[in-house]
Amino acid sequence: MGLGYVGLPTAAILATRGFSVVGVDVDDKKVNQIKNCKLSINEAGLDVLLKAVINSKNLTVQTDIVEADVFIVCVPTPLNKNKKADLSFVKNAVRYVGKKIMKGNLVILESTVPPGTTKGLVRKILENESKLKCPGDFYLTYSPERVLPGNLLRELVKNNRVIGGIDVDSAKKAEDIYSSFVEGEICLTDTVTAEFVKLMENTYRAVNIALANEFAKIGKHDINIREAIEIANKHPRVNILNPGPGVGGHCIPLDPWFLVDENSELIKIALETNKGMPGYVCKLLENVFKKAKKKIKNSKIVLLGASYKKDVDDIRESPTDKMINVLKKKECNVVVYDPIVEHCRYLEKNFEKAFKNADACVIVTDHSVFKNIDWNKVKKLMNNNPVLIDTRNIVKDVKGFISEGY
Ligand SMILES: NC(=O)c1ccc[n+]([C@@H]2O[C@H](COP(=O)([O-])OP(=O)(O)OC[C@H]3O[C@@H](n4cnc5c(N)ncnc54)[C@H](O)[C@@H]3O)[C@@H](O)[C@H]2O)c1
Repeated sequence: MGLGYVGLPTAAILATRGFSVVGVDVDDKKVNQIKNCKLSINEAGLDVLLKAVINSKNLTVQTDIVEADVFIVCVPTPLNKNKKADLSFVKNAVRYVGKKIMKGNLVILESTVPPGTTKGLVRKILENESKLKCPGDFYLTYSPERVLPGNLLRELVKNNRVIGGIDVDSAKKAEDIYSSFVEGEICLTDTVTAEFVKLMENTYRAVNIALANEFAKIGKHDINIREAIEIANKHPRVNILNPGPGVGGHCIPLDPWFLVDENSELIKIALETNKGMPGYVCKLLENVFKKAKKKIKNSKIVLLGASYKKDVDDIRESPTDKMINVLKKKECNVVVYDPIVEHCRYLEKNFEKAFKNADACVIVTDHSVFKNIDWNKVKKLMNNNPVLIDTRNIVKDVKGFISEGY
């Protein structure tokens, strides 16, 4: 249930392991695309895998749910306006499942959810819809995904996995399914612990990225923050992450909010720190404009990279999008150059057109191809006194720009 970043690769891999898989999604456009082996996400190797499993008929896709032995739910869990988990997609999907389950079936929830959701809300809906009891009549587990977009297929197989069961038998049933393709260690526990583990992992990332960002802000112009981090990381028990323009994607900026309550100031501050980074970068840009005695109003600014992380086309919650909002308020002429992303606001796919007569460039994403940019050529395309803000530390030894970065 849910053929997105998580559900589709999972369905495709299971289809290569001897299971007869039915992929279900409420989005009929997406279902038709997948039927025709077209992907809405750019993920290495997935196109080849999809063709193979669709052609072999081991994976069929449709909008209607069917009876099955195992139901795996991978639907979105966004934040609502009050920064709480919006569980409406999970509720709807589980309601459908509840109408179809029979004695002996297994239900696995993969969506990221607040602790207690599986044994509370999910179990209740399944029991109400099916008139069955759990544990007893059917098996129920929670098993979150830990994949890194861009390396999804490899990580699905190689990563360690946690499976939380409503009881031991449920956890073991789910282990039978996942061990068909998981080569990493599988840890069995209860559902609440597994839900908490997933949120701790994303919160750990968010807090540590926030710390690196905070160091970069404190360091300002006086300290080469990259060098300082490299030296600090030679300490045997220190591992500071890289600062950047903010965090994006479906997980790190959002999921830790599921853990925030009145006792978790640290998590809240970390999330706000990361959220504030695009604004901080725009402030840096404005300061450099002042230094260069240039007006930011009506200037042309190139944002290099639209996706939130390198070498992927995922623009969800991307810092670029937030910078566009800030810079548009300052009446800048914004252009986004990204060779991987196909659709985003102000996207210009032609490199020369993007940089022609630009006043400033802000490096937001560290796509591998950006390492090969000829900055001398860029300088010639840009207006006099070109400004360069590098938030990813990818430009080395380039002269002729008024630059800032960390
Ligand atoms: N993307 C990641 O890298 C990642 C990693 C780990 C965990 N997760 C979690 O996994 C879950 C899914 O994330 P995603 O990135 O795959 O989301 P996605 O938005 O890419 O895909 C979700 C799909 O579910 C479909 N859907 C919605 N309601 C449905 C329903 N009732 N029945 C069937 N299909 C339905 C949507 O149409 C969509 O195609 C989320 O909880 C997310 O937090 C995501």
